Amino acid sequence: MSKWFLPIFNLKTDSMKRVLTAFVLLFAGMSSFAEVDYRVIPLPQKIEISPKGGSYVWNRSDVREILDLKTDNPEAYVITVNKKGVTVHAATKSGLFYARQTLFKSVANEPEGDVLLPYATITDEPRFPYRGVHLDVARHFMPIDFIYKYIDILALHGVNQFHWHLTDDQGWRFEVKKHPALTEKGSVRQRTVIGKNLGIYDDTPETGYYTQEEMRSVVAYAAERNINVIPEIDLPGHMLAALCAYPELGCTGGPYTIWSDWGVSPDVLCAGNDKVIPFLKDVLAEVCEVFPSEIIHIGGDESPRDRWKACPKCQAKKAELGLSRESELQTYINKELDKFLSERGRVLMGWDETLEGGLSENAMVMSWRGVDGGIAAARQRHRAVMTPGGWCYFDHYQLKNTNPQDHNLQPLAIGGYTPLSKVYSYEPVPEQLSEEERKYIVGAQCNLWSEYILSPEHVMFMLLPRLAALCEVQWTQPEQKDFEDFKKRLPAMQNIYKQRGYTYCRRSE
Ligand code: ACM
Ligand code: ZN
Repeated sequence: MSKWFLPIFNLKTDSMKRVLTAFVLLFAGMSSFAEVDYRVIPLPQKIEISPKGGSYVWNRSDVREILDLKTDNPEAYVITVNKKGVTVHAATKSGLFYARQTLFKSVANEPEGDVLLPYATITDEPRFPYRGVHLDVARHFMPIDFIYKYIDILALHGVNQFHWHLTDDQGWRFEVKKHPALTEKGSVRQRTVIGKNLGIYDDTPETGYYTQEEMRSVVAYAAERNINVIPEIDLPGHMLAALCAYPELGCTGGPYTIWSDWGVSPDVLCAGNDKVIPFLKDVLAEVCEVFPSEIIHIGGDESPRDRWKACPKCQAKKAELGLSRESELQTYINKELDKFLSERGRVLMGWDETLEGGLSENAMVMSWRGVDGGIAAARQRHRAVMTPGGWCYFDHYQLKNTNPQDHNLQPLAIGGYTPLSKVYSYEPVPEQLSEEERKYIVGAQCNLWSEYILSPEHVMFMLLPRLAALCEVQWTQPEQKDFEDFKKRLPAMQNIYKQRGYTYCRRSE
């Protein structure tokens, strides 16, 4: 607001100020009045602008917040703007948070200072209770400062679950006090393959892990933004970094080196070694101390059976348990950990492979190999989160030009082609499911695997603006979704990215 406008604020009463401010804004030719329409991303479910007109001069902060909303959805809110001011009704603090977000986004592109809010009622609630975004920090470590920024980005998009993939073959990033070698040795990768596994390596070590104190403060920061942090310790495969620290936990005993390549390593935890389950329980006990999240992710994807087939200890365990296939050894591990977590009031979540051997009633499944895992989970009455590669893998290219020689447009990616329009088109609830089964699809998530994502800027480039599209999948009822309309609302969101210094893909298709 320019200086000549300030004397208005010496006026005696609020109503005099409001009338005069409205008058000045309108006659100074400012466009605020016309532009604030509350049509932000994600689009609120119902925006009723008062047919009688009128607007309130808002100082961008005063909101009367009342926890009196009668609703089953703890994240719902109602905003009313009238001559008395801005009032938010919600059932919980989460609803209040989202109301504030909608108000903030509605005026974010207005010139500084007071803004004219048209009299209106905005009624909104997210479609799904689980609205996730994942980040792999094992392949490329992301500094803790960026994790805070990532949480801010998630909050801007109404996301309420941050799935933190903390361990993998290429690095262990979670401090475990009882087993310090996990980070001392497991967080240091000496070299990394350049490009597409062609046998050429850089010699720059990739290092880094998070202390428990750092992770606790991320959890607290996220909670203030209505975001739960779900840690993932991927097991029994994707465990090479742990095997480097404790080779005796593998079938061959090593020696192992932290993997400098991408793919699926045949070296996994030995299912027949009596030290393995206690080791995993030690790790998960510390995970539970750091993360209050009810959901604890134990991975479970891509765990080859080659070593188990050749290992006398694994074969002896298979015989002892009367199992007929090696895959059942993974089920045995899952069940032990499922029990351990349930006893602590936690819920096990696993990639869809974990469903194969049967899970406890409460366990949750993340469908990534297409949608079949989610369908099977819902049919078995397990809550499922949909994250199928074709729509939700944001490590894929987002622009059509995937010529590996031309990375001016977009950097080298793992492959695939998942443009903004495809993300927007995603419908998480498979139509094959019955009305009853559909209730078990609790939400959707995008995954950011970091084999080819090298820096925080690169993470943001892959995430934005595709997350804007995904958040309408997560929030908006299908009959309200309209990609053409979304594209009209996107520039306002992109301006917020610019204001905040976020890197984002400026082209979209
Ligand atoms: C996965 O993408 N391996 C879950
Ligand atoms: Zn073994």
